[in-house]
Amino acid sequence: MTGELELLRDQAEAELGKAGSEEEIQAIRTRYLGRKGLLTGLLRNIAHVAPEDRPGFGKECNELKEAISSKVDQVLDRLVSSQREQAILREQIDVTLPGRAVRQGRLHPVTQIRDEICRIFAGLGFSVVEGPEIELDYYNFEALNIPKDHPARDMQDTFYVEDNIVLRTHTSPVQVRIMEKTRPPVRILSPGRVYRRDSDVSHTPMFHQIEGLLVDRGVSFGDLKGVLTVFLRQMFGDDTALRFRPSFFPFTEPSAEVDIRCVMCSGRGCRVCGQSGWLEILGSGMVDPEVFKNVGYDPEEFTGFAFGLGLERIAMLKFGISDIRLFFENDLRFLEQF
Ligand code: PHE
Repeated sequence: MTGELELLRDQAEAELGKAGSEEEIQAIRTRYLGRKGLLTGLLRNIAHVAPEDRPGFGKECNELKEAISSKVDQVLDRLVSSQREQAILREQIDVTLPGRAVRQGRLHPVTQIRDEICRIFAGLGFSVVEGPEIELDYYNFEALNIPKDHPARDMQDTFYVEDNIVLRTHTSPVQVRIMEKTRPPVRILSPGRVYRRDSDVSHTPMFHQIEGLLVDRGVSFGDLKGVLTVFLRQMFGDDTALRFRPSFFPFTEPSAEVDIRCVMCSGRGCRVCGQSGWLEILGSGMVDPEVFKNVGYDPEEFTGFAFGLGLERIAMLKFGISDIRLFFENDLRFLEQF
């Protein structure tokens, strides 16, 4: 091989040895073997070679061309496969790593109590209905026999939206709405949010009630006692002692508040029951004839009973919770216990 060719070969090899990327390698190929490349340039000079040396020179040029070309391919191959190896190492997934546990959600304790109560009453033939939380004064008070100047309005500190529009203070307005559009027999349960301007360990400005209403021919106070006894025994246990205490609500007559034997002290007397041994659990009574007249029911033909209870209060007693505000803080450490 002539000195010039050897020089070219060494130079090409040295450059290839230093090339670090595909682009660099391709540039070397072009520089030596391309149409305007160094080797092509040499071949053009064949005119200056002695005629007897020309075949040898041509052959050597071709061999060098082959040599550089295969060296380029080789270096390129090596680069591509080392890049692939690195990518495989980099993107490796450890399939033996344990998965991250998914934290399971659960129903809020108030929702659990609501569902349980609805289930018990569904078994007694009641169906669930809902009413608006923003309510007309008429449904929240007037139609329930609570006129504007009635002292009973002071029992419930009302949030007013406008003169005649309130945030409902109880679920009783749903009674009126349902009776207005259906004929007896009526057997409904209505859970939902209610609002009162009140806040301490046992009161929050928003809380939940469930209303119950049953109207038909010949419904008596005995039916009220029977239905509520079945409900409370299913809710708090078969041997739960009950007490029906005379009370007053403008929309029921007679009215009764129902107590259960204290679930904390079994009646011995404690802080929760105020040493009385009894816990007030719901308000109830026979629907007042005035309410029937307001919805166009004939009080001579139909009688019925209604009741209302606070869900948070029942949840507090069932789960032994002493501060109602815990239900609304949404602290997972609290909620995950139920
Ligand atoms: N609405 C009454 C309250 O909020 C409860 C009640 C409902 C009483 C139905 C009697 C009948 O206190």
